[in-house]
Order: sequence, then structure tokens, then C-alpha cells
Amino acid sequence: MRNNIKPIYDAETQISKIATIAAALGIKDPYTQGHARRVAVYARRLAECIGLNPADVENIRLGGLLHDIGKIGLSERVLNNTHNRLSGDMLAEVQQHPQIGVTLLKDYNFPAAVIDFVGYHHEKMDGSGYPHGLMSYQIPLGAKIIRVADCFDAITTDRPYQQHKSWIEALAILRQISGSDLSPGLVEAFIADIKENGTALDHTRSISFYSPVFDSRF
Ligand SMILES: [Fe+2]
Repeated sequence: MRNNIKPIYDAETQISKIATIAAALGIKDPYTQGHARRVAVYARRLAECIGLNPADVENIRLGGLLHDIGKIGLSERVLNNTHNRLSGDMLAEVQQHPQIGVTLLKDYNFPAAVIDFVGYHHEKMDGSGYPHGLMSYQIPLGAKIIRVADCFDAITTDRPYQQHKSWIEALAILRQISGSDLSPGLVEAFIADIKENGTALDHTRSISFYSPVFDSRF
């Protein structure tokens, strides 16, 4: 008879397995690797900034690290696309990456919160995001935090189709899309943190102890 007992979650083992997959994705799409590391740091900083407890901060950091892991399932044609605009079918393929990430992480028995953050990191406050078109109050706080970090890093780094902008310009852009795309409360907390402490990836702060899945301020 087969043993159906699920393995106990072991973060370090899972992370090393995922690191292997992430490295494979890094070979396929070199931009993603550095991007994931920076998003993890910005997301951690923002989570600390609003006073989340250490366990939530760690889940959000992991979610940031893994948010685009589903891109491993995308075709080279899409990953290597250097055009400004993706064609309709390419866009549809790109939009599958959150769900591919969810499927992958479920196989590795990651915590449900981390999987949710990966699955919902392209949802927008006004419901125009993907893959589910969730409204603000339906999106987990960690996914909203990762989205702010993701947008900031996308704006401040060079992409095949876009030159990077300064972080001052990037913060102004975040404010422009605050409310429709990003949570206004999180954008203001992020701006305050970056203005006060800069963009150093090793910046840390002492953290406090509350643990919301959703928070009406954000
Ligand atoms: Fe993504």
C-alpha cells in the first residue's frame, strides 16, 4: 500500500529545491533572477515598515523571491520578446505565469500564504488585474505589497524595451497608479521608507507584531 502521508513543510529544503528551479529560470530569463531578489528585499522592507510580524514578513519575502517563478513555464518566444507590445496570444501566455507558479509551489508544499501571494501578484485595486480580476478588498495584503515592490523594480531597472528611470521618477509613477493599480496606503508607506532610507537592499528595521490577512488601511 502506498504511503499517502504528506511531507512536513521544511522551508530550507523547499527553498533549496526552488532555488534550483529559479536558477533554471535565470538561465532561461536572466533578468528575472536579479529582479526576484530585489523585489523580495523591497517587499520585506515594506512589510516591516507597516509593522507586520516576523512570520508574515518572511512569507512576503519568500513570495517576492518566487513571484515570477511561473515564468519557467513560458515559451522562449515570449521570454525573449524584445518588442514594446506583446501580441494578443503572447499576452495571454504571459498572463498564465501566476497560475503556473501556484501549481508549481503547491507541488513543493509551500505555505498557503506564499502561494496566494504568487497567485495574486498581478491583481490590481480596481479589479483590472489578472488572472482573477480581484478587487482591492479581495487581494491579500502580501500580494499588494509584492506588487508595489514589483512595479518599483520594473521602473528602476533596464528592460529590453525600456531604459530605467530614477527612483525619484519611479516614486512619482507609483503615486500616479496609486488607487487604480496599487494600494494608496502601501504606496505612501513605501515612498516614505525609500525617501528616508534610500534603496539599499540591505536596509533593515525593527519590526512589530500584528498579523492581518487583510487590513482596511491598505
Ligand atoms: Fe509577474
